[in-house]
Amino acid sequence: MQNLLKGKKGIIFGALNENSIAWKTAEKAFEQGAEFVLTNAPAALRMGQLDVLAKQTKATIIPADATSIEDLENLIDKSMELLGGKIDFVMHSIGMSVNVRKKRDYTDPNYDFTTKGWDVSAVSFHKLMNVLYHKKAMNNWGSIVALSYMAAQRVFPDYNDMADNKAFLESIARSFGYYFGRDFKVRVNTISQSPTPTTAGTGVKGFDGFIAYAEKMSPLGNASASDCADYTISLFSDLTKKVTLQNLYHDGGFSNMGVSDAVMQKFE
Ligand SMILES: NC(=O)c1ccc[n+]([C@@H]2O[C@H](COP(=O)([O-])OP(=O)(O)OC[C@H]3O[C@@H](n4cnc5c(N)ncnc54)[C@H](O)[C@@H]3O)[C@@H](O)[C@H]2O)c1
Repeated sequence: MQNLLKGKKGIIFGALNENSIAWKTAEKAFEQGAEFVLTNAPAALRMGQLDVLAKQTKATIIPADATSIEDLENLIDKSMELLGGKIDFVMHSIGMSVNVRKKRDYTDPNYDFTTKGWDVSAVSFHKLMNVLYHKKAMNNWGSIVALSYMAAQRVFPDYNDMADNKAFLESIARSFGYYFGRDFKVRVNTISQSPTPTTAGTGVKGFDGFIAYAEKMSPLGNASASDCADYTISLFSDLTKKVTLQNLYHDGGFSNMGVSDAVMQKFE
């Protein structure tokens, strides 16, 4: 199962530190023979350790705030120049809610924070695909993946407005995915991932309870960041060419459970 991505060129958004899902994905993409550009917001580049990953994976870093069309245009142009052609895969691994950060209740948000949150977490995906689409930057049979969470479908109170942002993100994947499929034979999917101990994940109130509950509910246990990276690689590879417009649950079975023995035991 080596060289699944040999000859493929990509862009990976969102590796902040070694816990990040995007970090693990970059490591695995490199192992599978891909060449790629790493990108993150300028502020995150100052805080994080992306240089280490870039060195390890022989990647170049191009800063971009994913909410800025200008930054995205610069990123896509420079990436094609550096990689010597069009792009085969893109990972959008970006999420942020100011209401969560500032501990505002879902029932009492600051709407400027709400707007910032959906711009970063959902509309940035539309902006990214807009730039890729109009620059005709994707190769035929390429693959675009964003990361979601099942609070888009079901109520998880502490997930706050990120639930709405994820529902928005999943809808954008389907809607833009249609045009990418029709015009470029490019697939667009979201992966709905288990709770994962990363900077974004642990920022959610009650995360420890959240992740422990999901572990007990899932017949296979929670999917780790590394498991998610493996799944993402499969979606970038030629083995999944006809998978598109999907929200794909990667959660050890959690999404189809009602209750498990382990959870029942707590109530008996
Ligand atoms: N951790 C979880 O429990 C979990 C579960 C399901 C889905 N997800 C999703 O996975 C994705 C990756 O998150 P993670 O868990 O690896 O956490 P993370 O904190 O490591 O990554 C989030 C990334 O978003 C980047 N980002 C924020 N604002 C940005 C902007 N304006 N422009 C560009 N980048 C920006 C951050 O710099 C960071 O690198 C997110 O979409 C998150 O919602 C996470």
